[in-house]
Amino acid sequence: MDYADIAPMMGTLWSPLAAVTSRWQGRDNVQMAVAITAASIVPDRPRVAVQIYKTNLSHDMVLSGGAFALNFLRPDQLDLIGDFGLVSGRDRDKLADVGKTTGASGSPLLTDCFGYLDCRVINAMDGGDMTCFLADVLDGKTLAQGDPLWWRDARRRLPPEWLALWEKKQSSETATSRATMDNISHTPWQPNG
Ligand SMILES: Cc1cc2nc3c(=O)[nH]c(=O)nc-3n(C[C@H](O)[C@H](O)[C@H](O)COP(=O)(O)O)c2cc1C
Repeated sequence: MDYADIAPMMGTLWSPLAAVTSRWQGRDNVQMAVAITAASIVPDRPRVAVQIYKTNLSHDMVLSGGAFALNFLRPDQLDLIGDFGLVSGRDRDKLADVGKTTGASGSPLLTDCFGYLDCRVINAMDGGDMTCFLADVLDGKTLAQGDPLWWRDARRRLPPEWLALWEKKQSSETATSRATMDNISHTPWQPNG
């Protein structure tokens, strides 16, 4: 199969850009994500599914803490893609200078964003290179008018040096995923550990 034959469909499946925040053992972290989907048709029981790659510090924090928040960005918050998505919390406290409160799940909530969904993990599926987390939305609020920031629009507006950094990081992450994506554990996830 030639990926070009399916790219127009695959490309539409990414969500608006969200800053995924987590807290574990008193430490806060954030990463960017676009692999997010609604996962419930019951309006008063909202759920989401989010894919987090195992190479990310956030992965272990969400897996251990059992919670995260999705803070969707506004189109004027392009800068946060570089701050949150191109460096790891292993190297820097990415939330040190960012306004935040604490949600019902215990996760940090960004005070300045398009809106947030505060989530508690109820199941997780191993994908080899990543984990797909299913989560209840405990609380949420839309804080801005208009549309959130979509990756396909953001990508066109990124400074060239960030784009270069993104492509370098992607190519190394893709090589890691290719090597690990078949190492799937079929042991079911258990609540509380
Ligand atoms: C535009 C964009 C989209 C991304 N989407 C995802 C995603 O859906 N899932 C994921 O696990 N990582 C995604 N990432 C990568 C993480 O945000 C990135 O690896 C981050 O540095 C991890 O930070 P951490 O190690 O502090 O958790 C994305 C990055 C960017 C820039």
